[in-house]
Amino acid sequence: MMNYTIEPAVESHYIGLHRAIDIVAREKKYLAFTQAPPLEQSLEFYRMLRRLGAPHFVVLKEGEIVGWVDVSPHMGESRAHIGILGIALLPSARHKGLGARLMQAAMDTSWEKGLSRIELHVRADNINAKALYERFGFEIEGILRRGSLIDGQYHDVYVMALLR
Ligand SMILES: CC(C)(COP(=O)(O)OP(=O)(O)OC[C@H]1O[C@@H](n2cnc3c(N)ncnc32)[C@H](O)[C@@H]1OP(=O)(O)O)[C@@H](O)C(=O)NCCC(=O)NCCS
Repeated sequence: MMNYTIEPAVESHYIGLHRAIDIVAREKKYLAFTQAPPLEQSLEFYRMLRRLGAPHFVVLKEGEIVGWVDVSPHMGESRAHIGILGIALLPSARHKGLGARLMQAAMDTSWEKGLSRIELHVRADNINAKALYERFGFEIEGILRRGSLIDGQYHDVYVMALLR
């Protein structure tokens, strides 16, 4: 574990982050995307997170980005207390406890910022992610039936949330 570090995401991480997202997206099992969005669009999103001071962390191993977590804002004043959590690790970085470390960082900074609800979507067959969220107290609030369609295959999606 010693060679993995978790750091707040900054500009110099963004290209590597975009590359990492592309790798996980192309697994077609975990993310809403099946490839990374265009680089410019991703950069705009990361910079927006940074401008707003939204929780955003990366996992580095020998200078390479191997994972991330972000808690992005909703639109609208009535939803300003809510953050939307996204998390992933490259396959080689999974099952080492890094997911838990990222969750802890995301939650600590979300509460520090004054958020009182963190929500997320997770595909019903994503057992690892769901177990991780439940370990941190997230509860299932509903099921989006056929919430995901990839390569002709529907999957249900859970809406999960944690309140503070
Ligand atoms: C979801 C995800 C971020 C979880 O991260 P993770 O680091 O693998 O999860 P955890 O920290 O909870 O660890 C999971 C496993 O590693 C084990 N583990 C934890 N700490 C460990 C350590 N220090 N050393 C070795 N193993 C450890 C846990 O016991 C657990 O084992 P199990 O799966 O056999 O029960 C990761 O699996 C992932 O990136 N998945 C693909 C993307 C994804 O699904 N994103 C979420 C979309 S909603």
